[in-house]
Amino acid sequence: MQRCLTLTFARHRRLLLRQTFATVHCQQSAAMSGLLINQPKYSWLKELGLSEDNPGVYNGSWGGSGEVITSYCPANNEPIARVTQATMAEYEETVQKTREAWKMWADIPAPKRGEIVRQIGDALRKKIKVLGSLVALEMGKIYVEGVGEVQEYVDVCDYAVGLSRMIGGPMLPSERPGHALIEQWNPVGLVGIITAFNFPVAVYGWNNAIALTCGNVCLWKGAPTTPLTSVAVSKIVAEVLEQNNLPGAICSMTCGGADIGTAMAKDERVDLVSFTGSTHVGKMVAMMVQDRFGRKLLELGGNNAIIVFEDADLNLVVPAAVFASVGTAGQRCTTTRRLMLHESLHDSVVERLAKAYKQVRIGDPWDPTTLYGPLHTKQAVDQYLAAIEQAKQQGGTVVCGGKVIDRPGNYVEPTIITGLAHDAPIVHTETFVPILYVLKFKTEEEAFAWNNEVQQGLSSSIFTKDMGRVFRWLGPKGSDCGIVNVNIPTSGAEIGGAFGGEKHTGGGRESGSDSWKQYMRRSTCTINYSKELPLAQGIKFE
Ligand code: UN1
Repeated sequence: MQRCLTLTFARHRRLLLRQTFATVHCQQSAAMSGLLINQPKYSWLKELGLSEDNPGVYNGSWGGSGEVITSYCPANNEPIARVTQATMAEYEETVQKTREAWKMWADIPAPKRGEIVRQIGDALRKKIKVLGSLVALEMGKIYVEGVGEVQEYVDVCDYAVGLSRMIGGPMLPSERPGHALIEQWNPVGLVGIITAFNFPVAVYGWNNAIALTCGNVCLWKGAPTTPLTSVAVSKIVAEVLEQNNLPGAICSMTCGGADIGTAMAKDERVDLVSFTGSTHVGKMVAMMVQDRFGRKLLELGGNNAIIVFEDADLNLVVPAAVFASVGTAGQRCTTTRRLMLHESLHDSVVERLAKAYKQVRIGDPWDPTTLYGPLHTKQAVDQYLAAIEQAKQQGGTVVCGGKVIDRPGNYVEPTIITGLAHDAPIVHTETFVPILYVLKFKTEEEAFAWNNEVQQGLSSSIFTKDMGRVFRWLGPKGSDCGIVNVNIPTSGAEIGGAFGGEKHTGGGRESGSDSWKQYMRRSTCTINYSKELPLAQGIKFE
């Protein structure tokens, strides 16, 4: 029995508000049907410390007495297990405990904090296969991609360990004699992390590993449709903290929906809100955080293009386009949604691509031979069908796919649509499903302009051998995205670079490079070690 629809916060990244309603089933309905966790086939879930009913709050101890939600497997829509979300009172208690934990965490030297992060990485390594399997079961992405995103967390832990001995500011030349001018970086304090269903491990990991190293404590709210993954990850992290006699509240978690997300956005005690999700919800979060002059780190929608020039190596283009548009069933923020083909090779590439699409092995996400699994929710299936309908109305032709697959779970055919105008409304809309719009272009100028004309600015790629073109693409009149690639797809970024994008993508940067600066506040410090008081700019005030 379906009891209610709950407005959720970080779920269904980059979809419209009316699309962010999660179906939350009541305990009674789940109890009536058997939970997967009780079937011998899924007994490995217990290796992650999961059971039929799981507490959805962690702040040094486990609890949760709010709404009970059931997590469903997208491959068959069967219930896996249940999680009890946080009440507002439990949120309040958790924030207090988390801030209390900061007092001692901030005093620990950064390299020693790095050692804890190293241990978190090691603990994740030991559970990488079983955690990757849970991601496949609960999110619906294929097993290797589930393992891959745990690997991203492991990698960013390694990165953060090195960072723990490197973060710091320069000593700058002072114009005044006997004066030192230095930059000091301090942690912001409490980092609130709101993540989406599509990367239920990696995105938390990027934020958590870097924030901890910088001396912050974390409060995590994962997507309401992947609560088991949030609980399993928090258990791994909690065990490391507890083994080191550290307060568990250094890495707190409150499972919940829009109520918890809104509370975090409005809460003056949450110094930085890192939000990954739809542009629409991200904008609401940004306004709430701005209203209190808090800090925000936004990782929102993408509408990523691959541009294929006449000199491209087509042996790279076809597998790259298939990976980036079909992979994760089109549910990455970095998924290729627009494929711009030079007119000279448009028809031949479409033909090769359609052939490749038909060979994509569709199946259960945990089957090692599968390349393509289900969409995360039934609502996403409706969005897929609606987008195809709109594309047809706007002049598009479905050359491949376009239908719901007749099997249990939320399966749809990966789809290629040609013949649309570069600025057709549907082409400019991010629909979080596996639909690729193929556009035909004539000139470099036109292709670069089309790349940049959408509101989003996350990822972009060109395929070419022309070095001049490569540098024009990287330069001021080239791609306006945060991720600018050559001869590789739009998705699949490494953790060593800064991850994020411009314009409606939100402007935040997570993970590598100098993204750590977003988790710290900078003090410019001038220290007079002389016996004089010279003023800057040569001012005499006598
Ligand atoms: C996301 O979809 O939110 O670059 C993150 C990629 C992955 C991360 C995607 N490393 O596709």
